[in-house]
Amino acid sequence: MTTAIRQNITKTVAQTGAQNNLTIDWVSDTRSMERAAGDGLLTLYRDVFAEAPYFETFTDDEVFGFFMTAVDQGGLVLTARDPNNEGRIGAFVSSIPLAAKESVASHVSDLLDTTRCAYFAEDGVAANLRRRGISGTMKKILIECNALAGFDNVLLRTSINSYPQISAVTKAGGRVISGLFQDVASPKQSGETAMDRRVFFLFNRQAAQQQTAIINRVTIAEIEGRNTAIIQDPVQATDRPSLAFRLRDTYAAIDRVVFNETQGMKANPSRVAFDAKMYVPA
Ligand SMILES: CC(C)(COP(=O)(O)OP(=O)(O)OC[C@H]1O[C@@H](n2cnc3c(N)ncnc32)[C@H](O)[C@@H]1OP(=O)(O)O)[C@@H](O)C(=O)NCCC(=O)NCCS
Repeated sequence: MTTAIRQNITKTVAQTGAQNNLTIDWVSDTRSMERAAGDGLLTLYRDVFAEAPYFETFTDDEVFGFFMTAVDQGGLVLTARDPNNEGRIGAFVSSIPLAAKESVASHVSDLLDTTRCAYFAEDGVAANLRRRGISGTMKKILIECNALAGFDNVLLRTSINSYPQISAVTKAGGRVISGLFQDVASPKQSGETAMDRRVFFLFNRQAAQQQTAIINRVTIAEIEGRNTAIIQDPVQATDRPSLAFRLRDTYAAIDRVVFNETQGMKANPSRVAFDAKMYVPA
C-alpha cells in the first residue's frame, strides 16, 4: 500500500467516524494491535461470539492471531471506541483480500474479479451498543477504505438464517448475489458438526445510494414445516408479488410469503425465528 493510500484511509477513518460521533481506529500493525488488545478488543470479540447462535470459545492468543493475520494479509481492521467509555473498544470490523480466503474465492471466481474484491471477515458490536447504527457506520467506512485500497467490491457471507444480519447488511446497501450459496460445516452446541447454508452479499461504493424499503413488522415462523414470512404491514395488492420476490431473494431461508391482513394465518407457528422490522431492497 502506498503512502498516499495510507494517508487517504487514515483521513477517511477519522472524518467519517467523527461525522457519526464515533472514534474509529485503524489497526494496521503489531503496535496498534497491542494497543487495541489492551483496550478490550480481545474480550469484546470473545463476548460477541460466545453468544447465540455462535457459542464459540476462543483464547486471547487465538483472537490476537485472527486480527494480526488479517493485518499481515493486507486486510483492514477497524475498531470503534465505546461512546460511553472512550478508553474501551465497543465495535470492530475487518476485511481481507478475497484471494486470501481461498475457500470462498474459488467458489465465486466465475462471478467476480477476485483480485479487486475484499472479503468481509468480522463484524461485531458490544451487546449494550447495538441498534444505534454503529455497525452500519463501520460497514460504510470499511467499504470506502477498501475502495481507496483498490478493492471495488466487498463480499460478505452469512448464514441464510441470520435474519438480523441480513437486515443490517441490506440497510447498509449490501445486495444479495441471487442464487449463490455455499454449504459450510459449522460446529453446533451439542459438539456435533452440521452443515450451515451461507448466502453472499456484495457491497461497493454505490451501496450508500441503494434504495431500501422497510417492512415495519414481519414475523418469520415455521408453519406446516415451511419458513413462512407473515407481513403485517398493509401492502397494496399490486405491490405484493414484487415485495414477496424481493424478500425471498434477499432472505433465502424464507420458503413462502403471506400477507396476514387478508390471508389470516390460522395455523399455529411451531417456531418463531424473527419478529421485527426488516429491511428489503426497494
Ligand atoms: C449484527 C451486528 C454487528 C449489528 O450491529 P448493530 O450496530 O446493532 O447494527 P446497526 O445498528 O448498524 O444495524 C441495525 C440493523 O440491523 C438489524 N438488526 C440488528 N439486530 C437486530 C435484531 N436483534 N433484530 C432485528 N433486526 C436487527 C436491523 O435491520 C437494524 O436496523 P434498525 O435498528 O433500523 O431496525 C450485531 O448485532 C452483532 O455484533 N451481532 C453478533 C455478531 C454477529 O452476528 N456478527 C455478524 C457475523 S456475519
